[in-house]
Amino acid sequence: MSTENISKIPNSLNEHWMPFTSNREFKQNPRLITDAKGVYLKDHLGRTQIDASSGLFCNPLGHGRKEIIEAITKQLEKLDYCQPFNQGFGGSFELATRISKHTPEDLNKIFYTICGSTAVETALKIAIAYHKAKGHGHKYRFVGREKGYHGMNLGGMSVGGMINNVKTFASVLMPGVLHMRHTMLPEHKFVKGQPDTGAELADDLERFCANFGGENIAACIVEPISGSVGTIIPPKGYLQRLRKICDNHGILLIFDEVITGWGRTGSAFAAQEFGVTPDIMTMAKATTNGIVPMGVVAVKDEIYDTVMNAAPEGVIEMFHGYTYSGIPVAVAAALAVQDIFEKEDIFTKAKELSPYFLDGLFSLKDLDAIANIRGYGMMGGIDIKPKDKPGKAGFQCFKACYDAGVNFKATGDTLIIAPQFVCEKKHIDEIIEKLRVGISNYAKAA
Ligand SMILES: Cc1ncc(COP(=O)(O)O)c(C=O)c1O
Repeated sequence: MSTENISKIPNSLNEHWMPFTSNREFKQNPRLITDAKGVYLKDHLGRTQIDASSGLFCNPLGHGRKEIIEAITKQLEKLDYCQPFNQGFGGSFELATRISKHTPEDLNKIFYTICGSTAVETALKIAIAYHKAKGHGHKYRFVGREKGYHGMNLGGMSVGGMINNVKTFASVLMPGVLHMRHTMLPEHKFVKGQPDTGAELADDLERFCANFGGENIAACIVEPISGSVGTIIPPKGYLQRLRKICDNHGILLIFDEVITGWGRTGSAFAAQEFGVTPDIMTMAKATTNGIVPMGVVAVKDEIYDTVMNAAPEGVIEMFHGYTYSGIPVAVAAALAVQDIFEKEDIFTKAKELSPYFLDGLFSLKDLDAIANIRGYGMMGGIDIKPKDKPGKAGFQCFKACYDAGVNFKATGDTLIIAPQFVCEKKHIDEIIEKLRVGISNYAKAA
C-alpha cells in the first residue's frame, strides 16, 4: 500500500456509527471511497471501480458535474442560508415552477423537505391535513405494501414493508396501517419489464375497504417500482386498478418516486411511464444529482386549495416544515440539474439506453449463482442464491464484486443495479463483465 493511500485511512474508525452497515465487519475491512468522476469511483487502495448503482440511485448525471459545482458555489457566495418560514428566496419558487412542468397533470404544488424519508412523512401528513380540511377526520388509516421502502422515519417505516427495518422498532410504529401483498409472483422469474400476471393483487385494497371501511382510509402509498428490495415491477394493469379503487373510496394515492423519479424508468416519472396519475408524489435523490440532500412532495392543486381554503386568512395553513426546506444550496443544485436534464435530454437518453442495459443484465442468467433477474428502465435486481442463511448472499456477493471493480448496493440476497444515464454502451459492457467476474468469484469462494 502506498503512503499516499495509507494517509487516506482516518486515524480512527471507532467513533463513527455507520448507517445500514455491518459496522464491525467494515472496521476490520474498510472500503473508503476517495474520488468520484463521471461513472468511476476510486477507493483508498487506489482501485478504480465503475459505479453501477448511481450511488444510491442518486447520481444519474455522473459524478463531479462542473455545472452543479459552479451553481452551488455561486449560490453559497451570494446567499448561503435564509430561514424558510414566512419568508423565502426567489430560487425555491423558480425551482417549484420548473419541477411542476415535469410532474403529471395537476400535481403543481411543491413542498420541499430534507430527503426521501421526510418527503414521505410530509406526504402522509398532507393526506391527513387534506381529509381534515374536508371534514373527514375519520380518515386516518394508511395502506402500504409488503416489501415497500419509504424511508426510516416512523411514518415511512410504518407503511413500509421491509421486515428487518421494523423488527426492533415495532412498538413505536403508527397504528391503523394495513399492508397489501407484494407483487413478486413465482411465475415472474426472469421476466424483463412488466409481468403479465398479478394485477388482481391490487384488490387487496378493495378487501381492506370492505373489512375496515374505505371511508376510514386516508391514503394508499406505493413505490410504482419497488426499488430498495431490488426492482419489483408492477404487473400490467396493477397500478391502474389501484387508482380505480382509490377513486371509488375517496382514498388518496401516493406514489413514492424517490427512486423512480427523474428519468429512472425512461419517463420523467413512473406515473407517466405507466399512465397512472397519483394525488401526491414524493421525490429526492436525483433531484440534486445526489449532491445536496433535498426531498420534494408534489401535490394536486385541489389538495393545496382545500387545505388553504379551510384555514382563516393570515394564519399558517399547515403546521409542518423543516429548517432545511428548500435551502439555497439545495435549490441551486436542483436548478443546475434541471438545466442538464433539458440540455442533454436526459430522460430520452435513459429510455434509449434501457434495452441495451436490460439485455446486458439478463445475459447473466446463465450464472448458476443467480436465482432471478428483474429489470425496467435503468434499474434492475439480481437475486443471488444463498450459500448459508438467507439474507447474507447480497453482501457476500457485493464484496466479491467490489473486489472485481464494480460498485453497487445490495439488500438481503439481492444486488441492486442502476447505472447512470450518462453511461455509454462501453460502460454498460464493463458493468456487466465485472458483475460476471464478481458473481462467479462469489460462487467459487468457500
Ligand atoms: C422509495 C423510497 N422512499 C424513501 C426513501 C428514503 O429516502 P432517504 O434515504 O433520502 O431518506 C428511499 C431511499 O432509498 C426510497 O427508496
